[in-house]
Amino acid sequence: MSSAGYGLNPQHVTRKEVDIMDTNINSTTLSLVKGDITQQDTEAIVNAANSRLAGGGGVDGAIHRAGGPGIMEECRKIGGCPTGSAVITTGGNLKARYVIHAVGPVYRDGKGKEKKLLESTYRNSLEIAIEKGIKSISFPSISTGAYGYPIKEASKIALCTIIDFIKANKELDIIRFVLFSESDLKVYEESLGKVKGEG
Ligand code: APR
Repeated sequence: MSSAGYGLNPQHVTRKEVDIMDTNINSTTLSLVKGDITQQDTEAIVNAANSRLAGGGGVDGAIHRAGGPGIMEECRKIGGCPTGSAVITTGGNLKARYVIHAVGPVYRDGKGKEKKLLESTYRNSLEIAIEKGIKSISFPSISTGAYGYPIKEASKIALCTIIDFIKANKELDIIRFVLFSESDLKVYEESLGKVKGEG
């Protein structure tokens, strides 16, 4: 057991010019990487979707472009998804077999339900993954783009929620955060250090 109390063993590894930070928590490896979510080879990738599942820019646009029109057809059939929740489709032409479409909150002033909704967005995504028997999943930084959630705050909420989940659920082997820029990756690395310190 580390000082954090739940067996965290952070390791910095540089593979193929990609900076990766791996942390083992129980039987799950939590990784922070810089990259493009659409290129991930995990069984599932998570989309930062909207509640109409109508597609858009950012992660959503990139996933539908790379995955092809089949994903949107499935989204249309599902019809929608409330904020804080998630639904699953196949991965179309992506390497990932599934896309979990997760709807994060729009950030206003942080005084409303934003935090609770962001927590439940991550938790519901993980629950869907477990229900499907998925062992590996990649997340983008939900709500921190078009939805305006300050990334420092959002990263701590995301990491705390995920760490709490994997302390209680052993089913997932790999959870990967795919950050789009070096600066976003740095924020997540710093937050992971703080969250572990608080653990
Ligand atoms: N891979 C990984 N991360 C990415 C990628 C990508 N290909 N493209 C963008 N990002 C990053 C952004 O830099 C940001 O940090 O993902 C984070 C989330 O940004 P958004 O995609 O804008 O997601 P969000 O803030 O949750 O807003 C969702 O935007 O595109 C619309 O339909 C979507 O209405 C929904 C809203």
